[in-house]
Amino acid sequence: MTDSVTAGAIARPRLMERYRRFLPITEATPALTLGEGSTPLVHAGRLGTTIGAPNLYLKVEGQNPTGSFKDRGMVVAVAKAVEAGARAVVCASTGNTSASAAAYGAHAGLEVIVILPKGHIALGKLVAALIAGARVVAIDGNFDQALHIVRGLAEQDDHPVTLVNSVNPFRLEGQKTAAFEICDDLGRAPDVLAIPVGNAGNISAYWAGFREYADAGHATSTPAMWGFQAAGAAPLVLGRRVERPETIATAIRIGDPASWDKAVAARDESGGRIEAVTDDEILAAYRDLAQIEGVFCEPASAASVAGIRKMAGAGRLDPDATVVAVLTGHGLKDPGTAERQASGVLEAGPTLGAVAVALGWS
Ligand code: F0G
Repeated sequence: MTDSVTAGAIARPRLMERYRRFLPITEATPALTLGEGSTPLVHAGRLGTTIGAPNLYLKVEGQNPTGSFKDRGMVVAVAKAVEAGARAVVCASTGNTSASAAAYGAHAGLEVIVILPKGHIALGKLVAALIAGARVVAIDGNFDQALHIVRGLAEQDDHPVTLVNSVNPFRLEGQKTAAFEICDDLGRAPDVLAIPVGNAGNISAYWAGFREYADAGHATSTPAMWGFQAAGAAPLVLGRRVERPETIATAIRIGDPASWDKAVAARDESGGRIEAVTDDEILAAYRDLAQIEGVFCEPASAASVAGIRKMAGAGRLDPDATVVAVLTGHGLKDPGTAERQASGVLEAGPTLGAVAVALGWS
């Protein structure tokens, strides 16, 4: 662990310092940072106009240190674990939580154990956990079963480990800072906040953040929270658990969200909605984000924009609304899906003529 401040960390303020007054930080909390938070809010005017939401902004969370929003919560959860004397942390994950836990655990000198659903973790997430030295166990089961197992591991007295899934309240405390940043950057709260929903921690954290910021007088309104699940993994839309969740968006391949009640409260208290989008709708938004806006996110993240397109198409979005879509993770996390969705490489001999032919110029 280090207290040193790099030049980058000065330009990009430490998350725990920037919003210290809203976080459970004490004198004894270590000043952990890998440079998380303060991510860009990008106006997506071209894509927004084509989908009926010209005031569309993207909160690009893939620009966090390990490439996802998880770092906001992980920095707080790991710092609090260190403060409490922990030596090891454990999590279940669809990939991003494990990459984040592995990195922050390594930085803080903790042992990291992660339990994953075998065969359903995007390559960039798996290798990030492994190279950071986490002990990775892949189970023949899904995320919901992995979460059940890690809850059990965290209760074993002979091997003390701190659970750093979003059921750890410090995770949601850290994640709510993204709502503060959006209000700070826009100068107001958006009218609609669109967000992918898996284990349902993030939508809950954002709602807490928007409410706290308004209560503190930093915003005069709160947004309607619009959550989007993949159609094959949409327990909150169906109102019942999904035993065998399936979607190309592996990050949100979850059938029994831990923060179910909080997400429903966020939806209802904000006057929002939680809807499903199909894998085809997710992939169309994923390609359009890259090709029309130059923003490369992972498939699960594109569920937020797919949802906005769907709602606008159904006449349920006021075209004057200021909409923020949260892009939760970086596209490089999942190179396999990108390769399958992109057009292929053109090949040519090493001459001007051959390249011109390949380009269709002659
Ligand atoms: N988007 C991405 C890229 C995610 O990795 C996740 C969750 C979500 C959205 C959904 O957020 O669970 O708070 O509703 N990933 C977890 C993980 C489950 O293990 O990395 P949520």
